[in-house]
Amino acid sequence: MICSPSLPPNSSTRCSADHAPMSIISFSHVAKKYPGDVTALSDVSMEVAEGELVYLAGPSGAGKSTMLKLIAGIERPSAGVLLVSGQDMRKLSRATLPYLRRKLGLILQQHQLLRDRSVLQNVMLPLLVSGSSVKEAEQRARVALERVGLGDKVTLLPQALSGGEQQRVSIARAIVHRPRIILADEPTANLDRASGKLVIDMLQAFNAAGATCIISTHDERLLQNADRVVLLDRGRVSVMRDADSEVGA
Ligand SMILES: Nc1ncnc2c1ncn2[C@@H]1O[C@H](COP(=O)(O)OP(=O)(O)OP(=O)(O)O)[C@@H](O)[C@H]1O
Ligand SMILES: [Mg+2]
Repeated sequence: MICSPSLPPNSSTRCSADHAPMSIISFSHVAKKYPGDVTALSDVSMEVAEGELVYLAGPSGAGKSTMLKLIAGIERPSAGVLLVSGQDMRKLSRATLPYLRRKLGLILQQHQLLRDRSVLQNVMLPLLVSGSSVKEAEQRARVALERVGLGDKVTLLPQALSGGEQQRVSIARAIVHRPRIILADEPTANLDRASGKLVIDMLQAFNAAGATCIISTHDERLLQNADRVVLLDRGRVSVMRDADSEVGA
């Protein structure tokens, strides 16, 4: 049985014998095949409870980005059941996806900031798309940019910022609508040590404020200090580690 001491006191746990586990994300025997018969994930089962911070680790090609894309509804499972906030992702309709996305903050491997929009406009965009007024979007985007330490760079274009600063813009864009779940795909890749630490400190602060975070990484230093690590190997969960246990899958 796997217990997580990182859970908030009142959240449901994966180790409760008395209560049915309440997971915000639940993979049950999930497989993912891409066109061309490429198997990216095979028989992946794991649970993430609300408020947890989980690191996804594993070599290149192990399936980390694929797991995050399945959670985000960017890709669909080929088999098994994936529930995200109670939504069966194989049955997700086009009409329902925007509602789910509002609960998610995505920080992707390529951060995809728009080069012809200012930093402020980039961060306002998710709010405008989901129906906020320009005034409200601007106010909230400024607050989000202040939180990531970029309050003085709002009028610049993204390419005028350093790599670390651009990554912080993408974090501001991911958290501006206060998502319950934050998915970050190698958010410290290509950053120097100091910028990487700043980014992780921010994600940990959002987690401490209640957001569930899943972070994929190759960074051994992060993994050494992590409470919970899910290690993937060629599309399978090979090891799940909690703060006080290591369990072969
Ligand atoms: N769109 C796609 N079409 C076909 N195959 C894909 C596609 N995306 C990923 N794959 C394959 O699925 C497998 C898992 O890829 P994935 O990107 O999930 O790995 P990863 O663990 O994120 O790797 P990295 O550490 O290099 O980012 C790889 O074999 C990859 O080539
Ligand atoms: Mg990847």
